[in-house]
Amino acid sequence: MNLLRVADLGPEGVRSVLRRATDLERGARPQRLGGAVLLAILTPSTRTRLGFARAAVDVGAVPVMFESARYAPTMSAPETLEDSLASVAEYYEVIVLRTAQYPSALPEDSASIISAGLGDDEHPTQALIDLFSVQRELGRIEGLRWGLVGDLNWMRVVHSLLRALAWFEPAEVRLMAPPGRGPSPELLSGLPCREAEPGDVEGLDVLYVAGLPPGNGEFALDDASRRPWRVGPETMARLGPGARVLCPLPRVDEIDRQVDADPRSAWVRQSAGGRFVRSAILEACWPGRAEEDERRRPSPPVSKPAASRSAYRELLERRLGKRELVYFGTRGADARSLSDLRNFECIFSQIAPSGLAGVDEVCLESITKRRVDLDAYNIDADGSGPVSDLRVEMLRRFETLAAVVPYRAGAVLASAWFPRSDKVLHLGNFHELQDTFEHKPWVESQLSEAEVGVRTIPWRYFADSERPLIKEMLEITPLVVRSNRSDGGTGVRFIHSPEDLDRDWPPHTDGFVATASFVDGLPINVNAVVFPDGAVSRHGVSVQLVGIEGCTKRRFGYCGNDFAAAAALDAGDIQEIDRALDAVAGWLARHGYRGAFGMDAILSEHKVFVVEVNPRFQGSSRLSAALDSQSDRADMFLAHIGAFLDLSPPDHLTSTDLLKRPLAAHIVVHTGNTRVLEDLAGDPPPGFDVDLVSRGGVTVEAGAILADLVTRCPVTADGTSLSASARSAVEVWNA
Ligand code: CP
Repeated sequence: MNLLRVADLGPEGVRSVLRRATDLERGARPQRLGGAVLLAILTPSTRTRLGFARAAVDVGAVPVMFESARYAPTMSAPETLEDSLASVAEYYEVIVLRTAQYPSALPEDSASIISAGLGDDEHPTQALIDLFSVQRELGRIEGLRWGLVGDLNWMRVVHSLLRALAWFEPAEVRLMAPPGRGPSPELLSGLPCREAEPGDVEGLDVLYVAGLPPGNGEFALDDASRRPWRVGPETMARLGPGARVLCPLPRVDEIDRQVDADPRSAWVRQSAGGRFVRSAILEACWPGRAEEDERRRPSPPVSKPAASRSAYRELLERRLGKRELVYFGTRGADARSLSDLRNFECIFSQIAPSGLAGVDEVCLESITKRRVDLDAYNIDADGSGPVSDLRVEMLRRFETLAAVVPYRAGAVLASAWFPRSDKVLHLGNFHELQDTFEHKPWVESQLSEAEVGVRTIPWRYFADSERPLIKEMLEITPLVVRSNRSDGGTGVRFIHSPEDLDRDWPPHTDGFVATASFVDGLPINVNAVVFPDGAVSRHGVSVQLVGIEGCTKRRFGYCGNDFAAAAALDAGDIQEIDRALDAVAGWLARHGYRGAFGMDAILSEHKVFVVEVNPRFQGSSRLSAALDSQSDRADMFLAHIGAFLDLSPPDHLTSTDLLKRPLAAHIVVHTGNTRVLEDLAGDPPPGFDVDLVSRGGVTVEAGAILADLVTRCPVTADGTSLSASARSAVEVWNA
């Protein structure tokens, strides 16, 4: 393929090149492409010429320089560039081309042509290097505040950069150019632009110094016109501490040399990163690559009827053979979905025993007579006697041939499994790998740079010592402040004023927090299972209930899922959710994760913002499994086991398919104060079934689950409030 303008790659192609460049920088081996690259650089160039020469070497190709068309003083005229290129194009796989004028014709059906700057049209490879650099320096490209300074009309890289920026939804683009040197209006469509004066750089994330050469002829600019736009110490003093100054280079005097040593001056690092971007570009444009990619791409999943639950279950039973199947989780009731597996024998859980007949069950709640708040309790940090007894009981159980399915891999399970790993299959991830995927800043920063089309919340990270900076921001706007690991909304605060920050500082020990503006929208949750090759088994989209009065005291506390309400979502939004889900799944698989996972997102104005990835089963998985089971489909617990027994997904149903079935909602009611509950056997609220209720005088700790109210009808429209009937059901229950 040719790369003459950024549009030739499109947003997905650009992201793909950036992702590949990231991999190359991290040590991935470039492809050994062989062949030869012609560097037809017919106007001056340092970085692009030498950078593509090096990239050609990196991909195993021979770089050949061609620097002027055939001409001698004895000739009346040089050979035209068009003739030169047409006649040699067959010798090369790729021609990297820079010319003073856009050529009147380019070779076709032979070498791929990569523009290294054609006339005043575009400089797409430089724009890719710029985006890569921003990604590397700031951790993301989306949602940033940009200032572009220089001759924004004439500099061809600006044309490429503005066109590409429109795909990354900048929060702001300030255009800083002398009169008559602003960009053409057609470049600004869809961008939040405004003209700005020299030095108006406060609040910017990126100050891009595009270049303001003195020029000549009709393009000449005198020093008086150029001087105000120079970036010097005064401009740097107005830029924030986290901002970066980029420049494609060369510079004349647009950036004062005094600021070279400022760590925010990133142009040398920017240029260095070009090596990886240019290798990624050569790989992407190499002839036959697109066809090869097409050939290798798995055929699109056929929306075939789901393999029946019983067929998939039989496959699992065959793979498990004589092994007992053991479930290790938080709520024992979650394991009910395994009850039709012949091998299913035992549950170890923390609260809410399943009550299944014929299954051995060890539940901490039944032993301690206390129900813990699962979002605050961590069994791995509990050294109490009952947990020690639980380990001993697991060791005993694992003396027979078995396989264990964890809700979430953890250290307690590992302590019983490793000593018995000769007899027991662990159908889950290694628990310390699991921990990695629970580090929210790592996951979201990886996703934003590494995946095609995953839009994440634009978090900014602050060291604990920078709390005063957060307070300064709170003077202007409320902020969400979040610790880096938390479940069920426990570590997330909505802070409205500097004074509230100290009182509501999220507890953590890792020295930094994340902040972001509140993104208003519909909270969405998805259940899925990823297989080692990145294939996904989807298990339902729901509207997540968050912070519902009467159900939780936490502002962002988890309160249940409404699968029925999700049926009303726009068809395009559902497809966008699936696209994000598939991208997250692909990323998880590439990083060695497999099995059940969840994705929380905010749906805002038809955009899907991924909020977090839950590398485990979720509170919604039990109802998701019940819905699958009632439509004779293998649910996510079975699919998860399949992912660890080297099976394929049970089917390729899309979320759109799944929303066509009879659906349901559940509301998780948490108690505000610690309560002792005698058996609550009263009539369930009309239209609701009640689940997860504790029995036998258990003390339910503040914040713990009191009951799960399940209904066939939608209960919410916005995820943060309930319908009248649902509200009264909660009131009756949580009186
Ligand atoms: N940025 C850039 O294109 O540099 P050269 O002109 O030196 O190639």
